[in-house]
Amino acid sequence: MPNAVIVGTQWGDEGKAKVIDYLTERSDVIIRFQGGANAGHTVIAEGKKFVFHMVPSGIINPNKVCVVANGVVFDAQQFLLEIDELKTGGLSVENRLYVSDLAHLVLPYHKAQDQAVESSMGKSKIGTTCRGIGPAYADKASRTGLRVGDLHDWDYFCEKFSKNFENKKQIIEQIYNGTLDIDLNTTLKEFKVIRDRMLPFIADTSHLIFEAYRQKKALLFEGAQGAFLDLDHGTYPFVTSSNTISGSACSGSGIGPGAIDHVIGIVKSYTTRVGNGPFPTELNCENGEKLRVAGGEFGSTTGRPRRCGWFDSVMVRKSIQINGITRIALTKLDVLNDFDEIKICTHYEINGTKCQQFPSYSRDIENVIPVYESMPGWRCELGGCKSFDDLPDNAKAYVRRLQQLCYDVPALIISIGPDRNETIEVEPLQ
Ligand code: IMP
Repeated sequence: MPNAVIVGTQWGDEGKAKVIDYLTERSDVIIRFQGGANAGHTVIAEGKKFVFHMVPSGIINPNKVCVVANGVVFDAQQFLLEIDELKTGGLSVENRLYVSDLAHLVLPYHKAQDQAVESSMGKSKIGTTCRGIGPAYADKASRTGLRVGDLHDWDYFCEKFSKNFENKKQIIEQIYNGTLDIDLNTTLKEFKVIRDRMLPFIADTSHLIFEAYRQKKALLFEGAQGAFLDLDHGTYPFVTSSNTISGSACSGSGIGPGAIDHVIGIVKSYTTRVGNGPFPTELNCENGEKLRVAGGEFGSTTGRPRRCGWFDSVMVRKSIQINGITRIALTKLDVLNDFDEIKICTHYEINGTKCQQFPSYSRDIENVIPVYESMPGWRCELGGCKSFDDLPDNAKAYVRRLQQLCYDVPALIISIGPDRNETIEVEPLQ
């Protein structure tokens, strides 16, 4: 299979993990390149459910190599927890799971800082996952962070950790009125155990990926979150703290853009968002609740109910633009099975003027009026459909219209249910 990057085109939770799992079979190396334990990737395989926050979801295929690359902010505790769960489930990770020595560590003080900052913001809070993501990326950018490779030199780690701990304590308690309710020495003792378990996984993963590339192995880059949570291109400040778009696969894993053949955009058949921020097609009515229940739209990291709304083609067009998407994977089509009427946002209106572009500023996005087109629902199960032609006519028309509104980017797959076999392959990657 050609080398591909998988990215979310909306606000995350588009069902990336299922598509990653599907493509993992044809790949050799699966690489996570940004984000951290804020992501929650749920895979259902042979009836068994796995939720991953740190380990690439490709790991459930026992023959694949998985990499957590340098662009990730790495939560070692969460990582080891997931490894223990995999081992309990009979899956070994030895000699096929690697973590970049350059990835920055998310440490307990980052989580405390994340919580304290959020609490101090009152009504204007971002609604973060409180996994310490923002503070860890901030330390990386301000060059005070600790990296996975620093675990090799335990004395250095302890010295820098202690210094950071004291600084963070002051910031958290004196500026944000929060608490850093952990004891330094106890935490360092706990980290020594974590460090000893981590050492065998640490590697120069940029080199590992390059060697795999030279040997013509198929590389699959697994993005987290979605385009509108991107630090630059998303609905700032209601975004995450990393670049979630496809370009980040290169900087976040240490491979040049020439290695990427395809960018697969995961597009949910409607729209959801978790956390605060503008959402033009949000439905605060019965239909929103119906989508939430039918789609099981509750966060896999925080359990929060997701906000739900109709498909917004303005957003997905922008996603195609900023990600260079070459194939679309349409997910959760079956969630719409029970609707008489399904709406699609074709464009916005701002002060009575037609607007085809997604505004750059959150305050302008709050003021757009979504303009809809209505399509008839299909009101039946999609269970037995194995090809596009098997879909009911109204479902085919809905998919075709979405594609038409999204620059006619060809579909790779259409997902019609959570299980591996509930997948229609439209046109394989070449
Ligand atoms: P953070 O990434 O925890 O700092 O959260 C910032 C924003 O991104 C919040 O609105 C979160 O709800 C959202 N977010 C972070 N990770 C995910 C994800 O994997 N799926 C959906 N939303 C996410």
